[in-house]
Amino acid sequence: MEILVTGGTGYIGSHTVVELLQAGHSVVIADNLCHSDRSVLDGIRAITGQIPVFYETDCCDRAALDRLFQRHPKLDAVIHFAALKAVNESELLPLAYYANNLGALVTLLQAMQAHRVNQIVFSSSCTVYGTPGNPPVTEQSPIQPATSPYGATKQMCERILQDAVHADPSLSATALRYFNPIGAHESGLIGEKPQGVPQNLLPYVTETAAGIRRELRIFGNDYPTPDGTCIRDFIHVSDLARAHVCALEHMRHVPAGWRTYNIGTGRGTSVRELVDTFIRTTGASVPFRYEARRPGDIGQIWADPSLAERELGWKSVKTLEETLLSAWRWQQHITNLEK
Ligand code: NAD
Ligand code: UFG
Repeated sequence: MEILVTGGTGYIGSHTVVELLQAGHSVVIADNLCHSDRSVLDGIRAITGQIPVFYETDCCDRAALDRLFQRHPKLDAVIHFAALKAVNESELLPLAYYANNLGALVTLLQAMQAHRVNQIVFSSSCTVYGTPGNPPVTEQSPIQPATSPYGATKQMCERILQDAVHADPSLSATALRYFNPIGAHESGLIGEKPQGVPQNLLPYVTETAAGIRRELRIFGNDYPTPDGTCIRDFIHVSDLARAHVCALEHMRHVPAGWRTYNIGTGRGTSVRELVDTFIRTTGASVPFRYEARRPGDIGQIWADPSLAERELGWKSVKTLEETLLSAWRWQQHITNLEK
């Protein structure tokens, strides 16, 4: 298949491009490079021996998308990663988040409709479940009020897709609700490159281990969990990337329509467990101290990913240890490049 990957030079997008190329698909990337850079294409080439077609294109730019679809009239499907994703930043810049995340999806869907491309896989998030009841969460767990403008954009995008599918019976849209993607490609050649101080846990851990940050602050050790720290479902980014290939394959064999799947491991790991496992498997040192809870954090969440296993034939296979080692390999790679 020929697939358009928006946001394809970003963290999850680049790993998905690798999986798509290795599965024999052709890839066209559209990314405006607001949160990634072209050097990612070199990493993709080093891993796969192939360099995907790349357009520096903003998905809110309808004319640019039209030109892209005209130049690639055989596109079969789109995987839409392009979005702004920082929860804190979305509180400060809500309009930028609504304009970009909603604007990009609506513009893309209009362009797809005009060029008769009718399959889309959308990057959603477990954030749509808000503060859920007892984990694990299934796709039937209620959608709760969003706790940030970012989370609201994911809920609204899902609604936009549902409405578009309702109005156009030839359209197929699958939303993958990611839990906590972490780690890097096993080659250590592509990975997550946070801009400035990392907001997410594992990049902060690896930067602390690399001596870039003095110490990790663990936000809260008074949650009602066995060790008092929050519990998340951390999933290796390459496992997550593979889920997109499975979702595309599945779409070809089922009637058009709207579908959602949880993409997680089905295991909860506490923040403290993650830090301890990182120290044990890498041998690196990670000084840390406990701090007050971070506002907005939920105590525990993990996925019931059994629907994805049953319908998409997908499940995560990487261990937490492999995942943490891959992140450490990537951190060492970027630290060496910056020396
Ligand atoms: P990322 O920031 O690394 O990648 C996003 C890419 O999209 C970047 O390369 C950026 O330059 C590009 N982009 C943003 N707006 C664009 C636009 N208007 N036009 C073209 N390109 C644009 O983020 P990621 O972690 O790879 O996330 C990918 C998707 O997965 C996002 O939709 C995100 O909301 C979603 N998601 C991420 C996580 C996570 O923890 N990383 C969790 C759940 C969902
Ligand atoms: N944490 C720390 N110290 C840090 C960073 C994080 O203790 O320096 C803790 C947090 O308090 C939380 C856990 O580590 O308990 C995980 O935090 P992350 O920021 O890594 O991840 P979140 O679960 O808060 O959110 C992430 C993405 C969201 C996405 C969500 C679900 O940032 O965009 O996963 O996919 F919506």
